[in-house]
Amino acid sequence: MTPLTAATLRRLEKSARVAARASYSPYSKFAVGAAVLAGSGKIYAGCNVENASYGLCNCAERTAIFSAVAAGEKKIRAVAVFTPTPEPTMPCGACRQVINEFGPSATITSVCASPRRIETKLDALLPAAFGPKDLR
Ligand code: THU
Repeated sequence: MTPLTAATLRRLEKSARVAARASYSPYSKFAVGAAVLAGSGKIYAGCNVENASYGLCNCAERTAIFSAVAAGEKKIRAVAVFTPTPEPTMPCGACRQVINEFGPSATITSVCASPRRIETKLDALLPAAFGPKDLR
């Protein structure tokens, strides 16, 4: 398995920044990019995809995770999120739950338009999570 080095995390962060360029966010005008490092060592990127029926908007994190899973991945080791804001923002509750499914101890890095960043772990963002173990 590819080690989670600083260089890997930098590549992940860069992928999240690039992914935001594809954001379809005509309603919020909030272009988010995300990238996930999957168990194979590959990186999958995604952006938020909004819809005129607002409730159907999909966050960048879930777009990236669903791409990884559609490619056959089952494990998420790290997630990077980019928002075009002065301060980093954190994954929403729904995305935390989806990350938990594949990466309960994934590393989460949030970056933004300034040098500010947050690095944490999913289990700190979603303690005592409900997950696959509860359905065994
Ligand atoms: N959004 C994300 O893509 N990821 C987050 O972590 C927070 C919110 C998107 C959803 C919506 O398209 C826009 O940002 C405003 O909420």
